[in-house]
Amino acid sequence: MTVSPPARCPIDHSQFTRPSGQSGPTGCPVSHGAAGFDPFGDGYQQDPPEYLRWAREQEPVFYSPQLGYWVVTRFDDIKAIFRDNLTFSPSIALEKITPTGDEANAVLASYGFALNRTLVNEDEPAHMPRRRALMQPFTPEALKHHEPMVRRLAREYVDRFIDDGRADLVDQMLWEVPLTVAMHFLGVPADDMDTLRRYSIAHTVNTWGRPRAEEQVAVAHAVGNFWQHAGRILDKMRADPDAEGWMQYGIRKQKELPEVVTDSYLHSMMMAGLVAAHETTANASANAIKLLLQHPKAWQEICADPSLIPNAVEECLRHNGSVAAWRRLATKDVVIGGQAIPAGSKLLIITSSANHDEQHFVDADLFDIHRDNASDHLTFGYGSHQCMGKNLARMEMQIFLEEFTRRLPHMQLAEQRFTYVPNTSFRGPEHLWVQWDVSRNPERANPAVLAAQQPVRIGESSQGGVSRTMRVESTELIAQDVLRVRLKAPDGRDLPRWTPGSHIDLHCGDTGISRQYSLCGDPQQADTYEIAVLREEHSRGGSDWIHGSLRAGMKVQMRGPRNHFKLGESAQHLILVAGGIGITPIAAMAARAQALGIPYEIHYSGSQRARMALWNELQARHGERLQIYVGAEGRRADYQALLAQVRPGAQIYACGPQRMLDGLAQACQHWPEDSLRVEHFSSTLGALDPDKEHGFEVELRESGITLQVRNDETLLDALRGANIDIESDCREGLCGSCEVPVLEGDIDHRDMVLTRTERAACTKMMSCCSRAKTRESRIVLAL
Ligand code: HEM
Ligand code: FES
Repeated sequence: MTVSPPARCPIDHSQFTRPSGQSGPTGCPVSHGAAGFDPFGDGYQQDPPEYLRWAREQEPVFYSPQLGYWVVTRFDDIKAIFRDNLTFSPSIALEKITPTGDEANAVLASYGFALNRTLVNEDEPAHMPRRRALMQPFTPEALKHHEPMVRRLAREYVDRFIDDGRADLVDQMLWEVPLTVAMHFLGVPADDMDTLRRYSIAHTVNTWGRPRAEEQVAVAHAVGNFWQHAGRILDKMRADPDAEGWMQYGIRKQKELPEVVTDSYLHSMMMAGLVAAHETTANASANAIKLLLQHPKAWQEICADPSLIPNAVEECLRHNGSVAAWRRLATKDVVIGGQAIPAGSKLLIITSSANHDEQHFVDADLFDIHRDNASDHLTFGYGSHQCMGKNLARMEMQIFLEEFTRRLPHMQLAEQRFTYVPNTSFRGPEHLWVQWDVSRNPERANPAVLAAQQPVRIGESSQGGVSRTMRVESTELIAQDVLRVRLKAPDGRDLPRWTPGSHIDLHCGDTGISRQYSLCGDPQQADTYEIAVLREEHSRGGSDWIHGSLRAGMKVQMRGPRNHFKLGESAQHLILVAGGIGITPIAAMAARAQALGIPYEIHYSGSQRARMALWNELQARHGERLQIYVGAEGRRADYQALLAQVRPGAQIYACGPQRMLDGLAQACQHWPEDSLRVEHFSSTLGALDPDKEHGFEVELRESGITLQVRNDETLLDALRGANIDIESDCREGLCGSCEVPVLEGDIDHRDMVLTRTERAACTKMMSCCSRAKTRESRIVLAL
């Protein structure tokens, strides 16, 4: 449905200016894109991240006059909003996005409808005690108990249509199974299930949709009935409070903590909880199967290797999640992404757009089941309100995919146009028609197919298990002790795009060692990754293995690419400094600078020319922009002289041995903070030595948990042990992926990521390596 924009922009223009300072179509600062934004139209419904590409690229935070909301589209801005639940209140999360008319309101009132705060829309300080009180049934341990039921349901539903050759998976399975699981999880008695099934969709339309005036009354009747029915079920549950179920758990907790778990809360949660658990998962499962069947190679891969399913689930949730957007209310004047937002503004945070943000996800639009940071997606929200049911949803999706890949690997999408219930947030196709040739059903030839089972991974980060198989295309000695390795996908398909500064993690055969290498080839060559590996004198085994054992034609495992050393493309001048094999990312950066027309210079040092990789190629390409310093030829770089004059707008990128980086840091002390960006190859960190370490206490303020970090474990491991998802890549203070926000604490920063200013500010730390300074110091994290 299209809605015409109001004749006049309703905002107070004195409150803000667009970053560009330009006026929009009507002379007001709302741009064409912002004025035309319609989250109920077909563009958004079919593909929200694509629909908002213009905003991510040009106007990441904009005011939508149609909606009366500020719309936020980039990953970092949205994550920062989720992180700060005091400045950005969740109180409007379940508010009707389209206010209903008087008639519908009267209908709702006639049912005594009083949906109030649940968890998801509750502010602090009330929210966290309630979340903690109700958390236990969501722990991985407690969830295991539901696995046999989910498996049984998946089996029974597929049994019903496996011999038909055609099915609408939404109507025939994916709507009902998650609903049944949700009801079991909540503890709803079986005889009430059918009635509840009828009501739940009305709640979505009522909350996140734009029902027409004539529909509003019918929706209001359904919602009113849903509300009353939820109350009756709750009464029934109270009569049998020892039964299993999250609601019964809540009823028992109410006795212990009556002021935390109130009557109003239980009634609201009975209704909202069902939608939270059901539609989200039903839609996510339908989106996932649709996406996988639209990418037959990925589908075939998971059919052949079901251990890829957990990460494929994360990638589906990232690429095409079932919650496309969420809401927050700004409680004070704030600036988001450079845009001033007045207190009281409503924010529509488009998580599905954040999940396609190139700044966070390499080749973000690519559907890549091997993506190693897929689980960074914001589909489950983040921070203190992050979805409590995420691991139940993951378990269901993993089991459904396992059942389908085993029993219907030959299933294909039927010809169809997908339709969606128009709303801002909950997203999944209303129907999903698939077809297959029943004579090829594997279980007809081999009934043992039915018995195979892949263990479900609950609550575990999928990262450790994700890798990509590659074929070594060629190896070539390009300088003394430097081997150029070219890698391709075994089937020659295009690889995820990469940007200069990206690295991959190469698994070194069966040595158990994995090493990071910067990509140094041509990003335009879409089917090849190229690295250059120096055989290190004191090799810990990685470079020795690559030089000694890697041969063309071999298969290897790798992870990535990832980029923690991004080139700032807005710099006015680039000073690119490399020492030895540190030339690999610098070579890629120089090529990019050349392509973009950014003035640049390269300073490349080495001990002997014969050991310096790529110098002749670089000279041919960059001519006088390349300065080579060869120690054996008596020419050394003088960084003090090079950087004596501060050059406004210039940025220095450096990669090389620690000594060189220290010299550079020294030489640019008088430059603006953060002028120097560095990539380290090696870390001075060794393994944790328990004899030299001490344990310490860490408080997770938003989760309300206090943990003891032992002297033989990292903070990262302690956090993961408490079921907090934290990314990690290098685990030795190099990459910045395990950063956690610090509120208080005296910290021994051991990483090589934070700048001097950041360390002094002490608002973040790298959880894989940094610790509390003393046994007595207590760290408080905003997690
Ligand atoms: C909260 C998404 C499945 C229970 C949320 C939030 C989102 C979300 C976006 C708000 C996060 C925030 O404000 O930071 C999803 C998706 C699911 C899913 C995409 C499926 C793929 C489930 C399931 C359950 C559940 C199966 C229950 C069994 C909850 C609860 C909260 C919540 C209780 C409120 C947590 C709080 O505010 O402290 N979910 N959800 N969700 N979800 Fe889910
Ligand atoms: Fe790389 Fe911590 S995991 S810095």
